[in-house]
Amino acid sequence: MIKTVDLVKVFRTEEVETTALNKVNLTVEKGEFVAIMGPSGCGKSTLLNIIGLLDNPSDGKYFFNGEEVSKYRERQRTNLRKGNIGFVFQSFNLIDELTVYENVELPLLYLKVSASERRRKVTEVLERMKISHRKKHFPQQLSGGQQQRVAISRAVVTKPMLILADEPTGNLDSANGEEVMNLLTELNNEGTTIVMVTHSPSDADKAHRIIQLFDGHIVTENIRQIL
Ligand SMILES: Nc1ncnc2c1ncn2[C@@H]1O[C@H](COP(=O)(O)OP(=O)(O)OP(=O)(O)O)[C@@H](O)[C@H]1O
Ligand SMILES: [Mg+2]
Repeated sequence: MIKTVDLVKVFRTEEVETTALNKVNLTVEKGEFVAIMGPSGCGKSTLLNIIGLLDNPSDGKYFFNGEEVSKYRERQRTNLRKGNIGFVFQSFNLIDELTVYENVELPLLYLKVSASERRRKVTEVLERMKISHRKKHFPQQLSGGQQQRVAISRAVVTKPMLILADEPTGNLDSANGEEVMNLLTELNNEGTTIVMVTHSPSDADKAHRIIQLFDGHIVTENIRQIL
């Protein structure tokens, strides 16, 4: 599903040039659950953003579902992302002016899903994520754990084939963090491919494979035995 070949990302500002990714070769098969770990600044979020078609690499190739997308323009990337890739962030990234229901409905509006289908899908996912009793609330009126359940609802409402999570439990206490990990594991068991950045060894243990990034390189890949 994901294949990168010698992926490079260089950020240039007026004074400095930062090589955030330096020839990353990564393959993720459909249905895998992969964790990416490594120290702050080693390029984890940069890699996730390129995998998630939010950004282009400076050099190297990226294949998504067999299609080379490295040179895609923003418009093409957005079209491919919609409905195929769901994002979950450490800081939830919900829209404060929209209710829980409206936040989760948004990706379906972008996909021009009909009103009745939207209602059905949003209602179903909010129930599944155990947050339907808060559907008229605004994000600021929710606890962190509840906000992350809304963010996961928004990420999965289109039934994407790939979920990208950047430290999804980073702002949560251990009980809420565990619940988020259980939800991700459940989605993976249903066939959704997951790539998750984490600083937490116990979260990474839930993945099939752990990739260690250091200074923009992959240093080790640890394939866990799935019993
Ligand atoms: N938009 C940008 N402009 C310039 N430099 C950037 C930009 N985004 C990231 N960088 C630099 O690229 C490097 C990798 O950043 P990245 O955000 O990928 O790190 P990270 O591994 O996710 O770190 P953390 O664990 O702290 O989230 C850092 O040195 C960072 O300063
Ligand atoms: Mg990061």
